[in-house]
Amino acid sequence: MTRVFSGVQPTGHLTLGNYLGAMRRWAAVDQHRADSLFCVVDLHALTVEHDPARVRRLSLQATSLLLASGLDPEVCTVYLQSHVDEHTRLSYLLECVATDGEMRRMIQYKEKTAKVRERGGSVRLSLLTYPVLMAADILAYGTDEVPVGEDQVQHVELTRDLAVRFNQRYGHTFVVPKATVPEVAARVMNLQDPTTKMGKSDESGSGVVYLLDEPEVVRKKVMRAVTDSGREVVYDRDERPGLANLLEILAACTGGDPEALSGVYETYGSLKKDTADAVVELLRPLQERHRALCADPGYVEGVLRDGAERARAMARPTVDAAYRAIGLLPAVADTGAGVALNTAR
Ligand code: TYM
Repeated sequence: MTRVFSGVQPTGHLTLGNYLGAMRRWAAVDQHRADSLFCVVDLHALTVEHDPARVRRLSLQATSLLLASGLDPEVCTVYLQSHVDEHTRLSYLLECVATDGEMRRMIQYKEKTAKVRERGGSVRLSLLTYPVLMAADILAYGTDEVPVGEDQVQHVELTRDLAVRFNQRYGHTFVVPKATVPEVAARVMNLQDPTTKMGKSDESGSGVVYLLDEPEVVRKKVMRAVTDSGREVVYDRDERPGLANLLEILAACTGGDPEALSGVYETYGSLKKDTADAVVELLRPLQERHRALCADPGYVEGVLRDGAERARAMARPTVDAAYRAIGLLPAVADTGAGVALNTAR
């Protein structure tokens, strides 16, 4: 059976971009057709300045939102990254395969370091090595497919390179995974600045629709979206990025096609209104389920406990095999290790 792995960082409140680019497919498609794991990658949230209490809160909130989006813990595995040591065990081995140059070429690293430096902060070393931890997340599970938004494709490509390199040097150990991205809304843009991604760490939040925004807030944000100076509704990502973003969001919410939808609207106002309504309707059931889950924190904690146990059992054999392959001795009873030491050249 195909193995699917994907994850989300608890660095901020989850957004419409997270949902349309990734989470929605996990729940609607991936969990039903594959043996799948969905991880709240809390260790990744420590790569930038963080408040420990907020990370704890956001980790639980992200888990509840994954469940509210329709992930069924009877069907797939939902867990927190820090509960399964195999991720960090494998990450170190992969650091011994990756190169410094490769890490510095990552687009997200360049963007995020620029932001940190702009604010006069210092860049954590873990921000540089973050794609290696992400590779470990994926490779530990023998993953075939990684459903992500467009911004994560470069990291999955790196993961492929590391898997191939490791296998060539030390013998076949890892499945070489591939990224899958949605046809529409693979990169939802900020409503106030349609040249940048709609991201959870945005400072003002006015161009970002959060999954838990009240309907009136969603409507306001969409109605105030920056569009372009033209009058006609056309779908052109390069020349009319604001409009194209709205058309993509509407298409993703209603199952339509952005190009075809552009022919339906004569004014920006009517497009915005329908887009706002579509987003509100899309989020309504998710928000209702989220409210119900918040009333039952014991359930969410139970899901995480069971999920971590299952994930550990799945990851351990592959990570142990990687330790052997790269040249590390197993910590077994004296006799076995002794023989190996005596016969080693
Ligand atoms: P993160 O937490 O930034 O985002 C989670 C998922 O949402 C997608 N996404 C978007 N898709 C479309 N438009 C947007 N504006 C948008 N914003 C976010 C992301 O592409 C992602 O699929 N490094 C990852 C987390 C991670 C991971 C992994 C993912 C860690 N280990 C292993 C897959 C496999 C990240 O920061 O995602």
